Amino acid sequence: MTTALQLDNRHIVLGLTGGVACYKAAVLARALVKSGATVQVVMTEAAERFVTAVTMQALSGRPVYTSQWDAREANNMAHINLTRAADALVIAPASADFIAKLANGLSDELLSLLCLARPIGRCPLLVAPAMNREMWLHPATQRNIARIRADGAQVLGPADGDQACGESGDGRMLEASELCDEVVAALQPKPLRGRRVLVTAGPTFEAIDPVRGITNLSSGKMGFALARAAQEAGAEVTLVVGPVSLPTPRHVRRVDVASARQMHDVVLPLAAAHDVFVATAAVADWRPASYAQRKIKKDGSHSAPAIELAENPDILAAVARLPKPPFCVGFAAETDDLARNARAKLERKNVPLIVGNIGPATFGRDDNALLLVDARGERQVPAADKLTLARELVREIAARLEAQP
Ligand code: CTP
Repeated sequence: MTTALQLDNRHIVLGLTGGVACYKAAVLARALVKSGATVQVVMTEAAERFVTAVTMQALSGRPVYTSQWDAREANNMAHINLTRAADALVIAPASADFIAKLANGLSDELLSLLCLARPIGRCPLLVAPAMNREMWLHPATQRNIARIRADGAQVLGPADGDQACGESGDGRMLEASELCDEVVAALQPKPLRGRRVLVTAGPTFEAIDPVRGITNLSSGKMGFALARAAQEAGAEVTLVVGPVSLPTPRHVRRVDVASARQMHDVVLPLAAAHDVFVATAAVADWRPASYAQRKIKKDGSHSAPAIELAENPDILAAVARLPKPPFCVGFAAETDDLARNARAKLERKNVPLIVGNIGPATFGRDDNALLLVDARGERQVPAADKLTLARELVREIAARLEAQP
């Protein structure tokens, strides 16, 4: 199964202004195209000092626009025509000077004209600042940033770190892959705007001694996809994770834990302040009843040590028992009889929605197929990559929240 192209059928106008971060804009153009978008590059005169229109044309596969007097447009109105089919207008890099122009509605060259003339209600403006840290922190820049935000622009970054000038601080443009993810997120519907979502993900690890433990098979990919999809849908997301090595989705708050009891102790106090709790974690049902402080050694008897087990708390059931529980969604990873097992869990854990999947068929993979089970019945969600499934699940959850009294 191939992963869905995140920007299929999307048209992005990518504007470059003067700054050394133009080299990252070249990579961004490539990333957007690889994600399925068509990309129309527009450059200011200053941007052309840093990277050539030839490079940007080759990467985007389209002639670049640099002047409002471009006679290629039949009506000679490039500043109108170029945004009419655009799904988003991305300025990367956005210099301090260009941001000042945006804040004041100045429009003395093609790119600033485009920004002013874009259909404001349906073409979002995404601005990725790139400048020296002193320029970024200057009250004039901060004032201009506040103004463009108030006018509806979305400001992406900037990041903190080493700068080309040799200084270090805020003002670095985000990396191309981060900007690409921001564009994808900006174009998603926002049915969870204003909602708070808590997600558990990954396995738990129950230590036997300092070098050994009991764990479950789980890559955490479904939970991370869910956290990303919920964040893209406008939610404020907290992700509580067992031991996995996956990058944290952008703008998601992550809390790392190891054992089921640690996960329980982090989740329970947080849960009541959330609208939704999605338990994707493969929590170990049992832990060793006692922990050996030192590594258990072979004693020469050739008999294996007996490990007594104690039951772990059921985190999902505990959240569902709260006086005012969030909307709870459980996962059921089964080896067989999915519908019956999932329905049994729905009733046993007293939650409104269980998402069933055949465990061994999906562990560690990028795709999955789901069975949604609730009081009304069952719905099969056909096989797709985990992010596509997560977005579908977010839609289902949002619809149920809307329908709640
Ligand atoms: N779960 C949990 N805490 C546990 C065990 C499970 O929060 N201690 C959650 C999982 O995150 C998942 C759901 O409960 O959302 C179902 O987990 P599963 O292990 O399949 O269910 P169990 O209750 O352990 O049932 P069984 O192992 O008998 O299938």
